[in-house]
Amino acid sequence: SKNLFQLAIDGPAASGKSSTARIAAQRLKFEYIDSGAMYRAVTLAALRQNLSPLSLDDASKISQLAATSHIFIHTIFNPPPIAHTSSSKPSLPQTLVYLNGDDVTHDIRSPEITKNISGIASNPDVRRVLVEKQRAFANGIYDYEGDKLNTIRKSSKGVVMDGRDVGTVVLPNADLKIFVTAPARIRAIRRFKELQQSSTNKSLIDFNKVLEDLEKRDKNDYERKISPLKKADDAILLDTRDMSVMEQADKIIELVLERAKEKNIDL
Ligand code: CDP
Ligand code: CDP
Ligand code: CDP
Repeated sequence: SKNLFQLAIDGPAASGKSSTARIAAQRLKFEYIDSGAMYRAVTLAALRQNLSPLSLDDASKISQLAATSHIFIHTIFNPPPIAHTSSSKPSLPQTLVYLNGDDVTHDIRSPEITKNISGIASNPDVRRVLVEKQRAFANGIYDYEGDKLNTIRKSSKGVVMDGRDVGTVVLPNADLKIFVTAPARIRAIRRFKELQQSSTNKSLIDFNKVLEDLEKRDKNDYERKISPLKKADDAILLDTRDMSVMEQADKIIELVLERAKEKNIDL
């Protein structure tokens, strides 16, 4: 493994972490690691075994399951544009997620997973297992299972990982930490629009329900005992309420280049 520039991005739901981390990764030739996808994959694994993430009775079975499940994430840069859309915009990098060899990329985004994830995220044994995996990725360690791989490509100059505890717990020595925020209402509007775009029946999506779910998840993330969502002391606070995705990504890239220059790191 080689020394990679480590960028940690944390913040609450819909603060723009994953879309801007992907854009920054593509432009900077960094690898992208979606730590939330790993918590989602464990939640799916538990539900598939009929274990209840929200029940304390199942907690020890679930931590065992996390330790024995093969979770692979792999980001594809410059994916071909989606057929039957005439958009000339370049597609964002896509993260494929595999659970024990199964492609669960889409399954882990379901509302059922989001509803149950707090039980997984507050399980200390699950966190220990996933944090170890996340650190290995960030240090450029290859991990193969057949053709499924957690890769850091030879050409990568760094890694960007987004989540809730990346700057505080996973990568406390990251070269740059950014904590992104926006008021809950603004983040709920973003999620609402996103849900409307991906839904065939737009009238079924209720803004107040989206806001309520988002505030509930914020509360769980900020208040849990283990690895709560928290700005690291040395993280840069970025309020994104008035920023577009592109402006937010540009700002992050600017901060990375500035920090690399200060540290004499050639990107
Ligand atoms: O994109 P969104 O904010 O909806 O979700 P995500 O990043 O996929 O994370 C889903 C959930 O996983 C969060 O609400 C956290 O409870 C948990 N998570 C965590 O505990 N620690 C991380 N490093 C990343 C996610
Ligand atoms: O990863 P996280 O949950 O923090 O957020 P995201 O998935 O990157 O962004 C959630 C939604 O908000 C996406 O539809 C983004 O396009 C949108 N967004 C926005 O409109 N303006 C921003 N400054 C950031 C994100
Ligand atoms: O691993 P190797 O150095 O042989 O090449 P690669 O990383 O597979 O690069 C293949 C393509 O992916 C190149 O065109 C790179 O520009 C692109 N790439 C990227 O966009 N982002 C990365 N983090 C890594 C590679």
